[in-house]
Amino acid sequence: MRIVLGVTGGIAAYKAALVLRLLREAGHRVRVVPTEAALRMVGRPTWEALSGEPVRTDVFDDAEHVDHVALGRGADLVIVAPATANLLAKAAAGLADDLLSTTLLTVTCPVLLAPAMHTEMWLHAATQANVATLRGRGVHVLDPDSGRLTGADTGPGRLPEPAAIVAAALALVSPAIDDLAGRSVVVSAGGTREPIDPVRFLGNRSSGRQGVALAVAAARRGATVTLVAANVDDALVPDHPAIAVRRVETTLELRDAVRDAGSGADVVVMAAAVADFRPATTTTHKIKKTSAGPAPIELETNPDILAELAAERLREGQVVVGFAAETGDATGDVLAHGREKARRKGADLLAVNEVGADRGFGDVPNEVTILDGEGSVVGRGSGTKAQVADAVWDAVAARLRAATTIER
Ligand code: C5P
Repeated sequence: MRIVLGVTGGIAAYKAALVLRLLREAGHRVRVVPTEAALRMVGRPTWEALSGEPVRTDVFDDAEHVDHVALGRGADLVIVAPATANLLAKAAAGLADDLLSTTLLTVTCPVLLAPAMHTEMWLHAATQANVATLRGRGVHVLDPDSGRLTGADTGPGRLPEPAAIVAAALALVSPAIDDLAGRSVVVSAGGTREPIDPVRFLGNRSSGRQGVALAVAAARRGATVTLVAANVDDALVPDHPAIAVRRVETTLELRDAVRDAGSGADVVVMAAAVADFRPATTTTHKIKKTSAGPAPIELETNPDILAELAAERLREGQVVVGFAAETGDATGDVLAHGREKARRKGADLLAVNEVGADRGFGDVPNEVTILDGEGSVVGRGSGTKAQVADAVWDAVAARLRAATTIER
């Protein structure tokens, strides 16, 4: 989705950087349109770096492309966070003296304004009248939170939390699907690390983004989620009321956490890249370089958590989902390897994706084919990791529905 994120010059402008990150993590393209005053709070390089897009404030900055019209026409959603009293007044009056206010006059998509200001300014009759005018025109104006403001003062006027702003904004454009309501799910994410000594480990390149996208999508669809995060960057870990996060490092820790949370879960999705082997011994001191050359590292096999979950079923009727990152080779293509793995692992569903140096890992689009336990294709997903996550949950929800129908 193409989103315009307007930022105005309140102290809370720094929180808009978190709004931007959440939107980007959910796979959206975001053009940030700050006001000049906002740039005094948080500078242009921050917005450019976090959005990966050019940042302009003025209609004359890129007159050739008539940015205010192009931005407005191309947007699927506009969010302004924080929205100052001045922005509310300008929007209510239809003033257009910079790129943001001009863009607001050209858009036809849903607009969400998240006000933040001192309590007196919020409660002032002028501001309240502007809010009423805007709401009357169909603009969605969030009520500010109550609490500590910039100084020692407290009251209504705080910017709502970034996750709440994003959830409210996305709800305006995505039809509410709650097909996982009342379900409890466990998602593992990231990559395990197996220590060799106190400073070194055997690890892999998994960022955890796909697992995080799965957790966020499940929460959006109504589930209660436990995210077992193996070495996932703090900045990627969602802060969501329906997502409990358990951090782990090694495969054995991940197995304990997944089994613990999984005993009460309707669904377990193993999206983590789990190390197949671990060093047989771990030294308590750093291994030194010696003239004798490298000492061999003896490995032992880790348990296959997915296969165990599939064989044991921690709870009756639990849906167990695996991920398989494959590259084709002389013995078969990606799907052939996926089919073989689906049968071998015994999971209900296996999401197979092609990986390589520039595919599958990190902040890149993804493509998966979803197989059932016999290796038949039951779904496909492509695009952002959020879209892939939804395709996986579509397949899971279909299975849960089928199981419920059979029970009846
Ligand atoms: O066999 P492979 O590692 O390709 O299988 C990938 C799937 O199995 C993923 O869902 C991964 O989370 C899971 N897995 C596991 N335990 C292992 C290795 C992989 O649960 N030891």
